[in-house]
Amino acid sequence: MKFLILNGPNLNLLGSREPGIYGSTGYEALCAMLKDKAADMGAEADCFQSNHEGALIDAIHNAVGNYDAIIMNPGAFTHYSYAILDALKAVNVPCIEVHISNVHQREEFRHKSVTAPACVGQICGLGTFGYVAAMTYFMEHRHG
Ligand code: DQA
Repeated sequence: MKFLILNGPNLNLLGSREPGIYGSTGYEALCAMLKDKAADMGAEADCFQSNHEGALIDAIHNAVGNYDAIIMNPGAFTHYSYAILDALKAVNVPCIEVHISNVHQREEFRHKSVTAPACVGQICGLGTFGYVAAMTYFMEHRHG
């Protein structure tokens, strides 16, 4: 199984960005960890991060035929990007939405995800383990 791990705005700053909320693992270390975990599962993971909505949408489109599943942390786009919602709905590649923090314990505007309705499910509050949990789910519940 081939996973596309997509991370949205400001997630390139993991490690230094609000470590009390997002932890001390840097973005590169996260990707290395996810690639290792995927390999342990007999799968493969590619990571892509962008601060730009259009680049994330292009990556979702390009997942068709190239990846079996998407694991996406859309960052703040979660809360208002109808364009990312539409992109996820437009492709037949299943997606799980991941948030490192428990968005429900935070500001009101983070409680709403406009992108989750296009996803198989959503994981939040489990730190970076959420990405691993999502890969594990897809390994055990194949879609398509
Ligand atoms: C986040 C939560 C979002 O509200 C926030 O804008 C992020 C990160 C998370 O991983 O907890 O950038 O998606």
